[in-house]
Amino acid sequence: MICRAIICNFVGINSVTVHSLTFMQEKIVILDFGSQTTQLIGRRVRELNMYCEIVPYNKFPHDDPSVIGVILSGSPFSVYDEKAFRVDLSEIRGRYPVLGICYGAQFLSWSSGGSVEPAGSREYGRAHLASIDSNDPLMKDIPVGSTVWMSHGDTITSIPENFHVIASTDKVRIASFAVEGERTWGVQFHPEVFHSEHGTQLLRNFVVGICGGKQDWSAASFIDSTVAELKATLGDDKVVLGLSGGVDSSVAAVLLNRAIGKNLTCIFVDHGMLRKNEFRDVLRDYESLGLNVIGVDASDKFFGELAGVADPEKKRKIIGKGFIDVFDQEAHKLKDVKYLAQGTIYPDCIESLSITGTTIKSHHNVGGLPEKMNLKLCEPLRLLFKDEVRAVGRELGMPEHLITRHPFPGPGLAVRILGDITPEKVRILQDADSIFINGLREWGLYDKVWQAGVILLPVQSVGVMGDERTYERAVALRAVTSTDAMTADWAHLPYEFLAKVSNDIINKVRGVNRVTYDISSKPPATIEWE
Ligand code: XMP
Repeated sequence: MICRAIICNFVGINSVTVHSLTFMQEKIVILDFGSQTTQLIGRRVRELNMYCEIVPYNKFPHDDPSVIGVILSGSPFSVYDEKAFRVDLSEIRGRYPVLGICYGAQFLSWSSGGSVEPAGSREYGRAHLASIDSNDPLMKDIPVGSTVWMSHGDTITSIPENFHVIASTDKVRIASFAVEGERTWGVQFHPEVFHSEHGTQLLRNFVVGICGGKQDWSAASFIDSTVAELKATLGDDKVVLGLSGGVDSSVAAVLLNRAIGKNLTCIFVDHGMLRKNEFRDVLRDYESLGLNVIGVDASDKFFGELAGVADPEKKRKIIGKGFIDVFDQEAHKLKDVKYLAQGTIYPDCIESLSITGTTIKSHHNVGGLPEKMNLKLCEPLRLLFKDEVRAVGRELGMPEHLITRHPFPGPGLAVRILGDITPEKVRILQDADSIFINGLREWGLYDKVWQAGVILLPVQSVGVMGDERTYERAVALRAVTSTDAMTADWAHLPYEFLAKVSNDIINKVRGVNRVTYDISSKPPATIEWE
């Protein structure tokens, strides 16, 4: 993130941005009242091959003729809280089909005169639908007894006269309601979460059955329309793109390459903190994908600037600035470049709402842009979730190992070497890391973890090898499971695997005599150590 943000800040971006999808794509709008599961609702709807957009609760696109339905998300607030996010739904209800989820349902009822009160016993976790009105289109093919996931401290205790109950659990009478004479529904449970057994069916009932969604959103349709749009918008203009080796920038590059071919130049900078042989291997991958790519080995510059620096934030700043310098130098060698392309994806762009009620723009890539701007921004993936980016990559014929590659921090191994950085420490870490990562692949574990790597600790410990006493470095293995890096658990890797990796590292990596396994989750720890 940091590197991408810095490229923008440095190269300078014009306010003109090329988005994909300005064509008429029918959509569901998800009004975000700040719930942690809002993005998940979006993903579930997209999984139904239905395009959707998440917008802040008070920014409904009233003038957009392509909206076919509206979902109101959950919220960290209670409807009766002073600071609760409230919105006038009079222009929305009656005009579009509406589905309120959790707070969304409570708000629909409460704002029409129903009552919402703190639940006697807070309603969290699994529940079962004990009765269902199977004639209601929202409940089509949802069997009695289905598991649903509850997560609310409040509950609807009475609904207005024109509302009627269409599903109940043992504890929650108004688990779901429909509004008579209106295409409006509410569910107090969360159909979007994995544990709600027929949650996808319920969302399908709404999106397809009720809203009439054509389900024509797919990786292939996205590629066709985006390539056509990029061609039309970019014409013969030249575009430069910074590759990181990660999936987002790689897919953006291949997509742009399909649209404008050699008018796209990619720059891949080696700051010396990449994984073992990664610069060489990834460059080769890029070339075999037909990309016009310039690989710049700037490792000496970075090692020089990082010498003696131990503070993590200083390391990050040095790498960020150095990266920009190198990128800019190369970009300026190109003639007539008009656009900077980036692999920004949807979660980077969604305006999220914090529980304090302040609107935060979590758009890492274009925040704080300078006034003086000389390149326009092109972000062809800005409306895609990560799994959709991968689907697009596969559809574009990219190799699986590029698509399923673990996330890797922009400053690379620099934030995995605690303390100052030397080429020797990088060599030790690269060797240990490559044993761990290759081991994960060989044991079929690579795709089961979100991200993994080795940390070089700033401690030495006593060991014994043969008859010799050693006093060498300790490393920590870190592997986590996660869905979005916001929270993570340590991966429960098999002991046999950990034993093998430990053995291999100690035997093969000169300078390491102790291996530990990090069993901290996030929060309270973070994924990276620095
Ligand atoms: P943390 O350590 O905050 O990491 O739990 C969350 C995710 O972000 C990655 N990360 C970074 N990515 N520049 C990046 O591009 C950075 O400075 C940086 N720091 C952490 C981390 O690898 C994980 O995927």
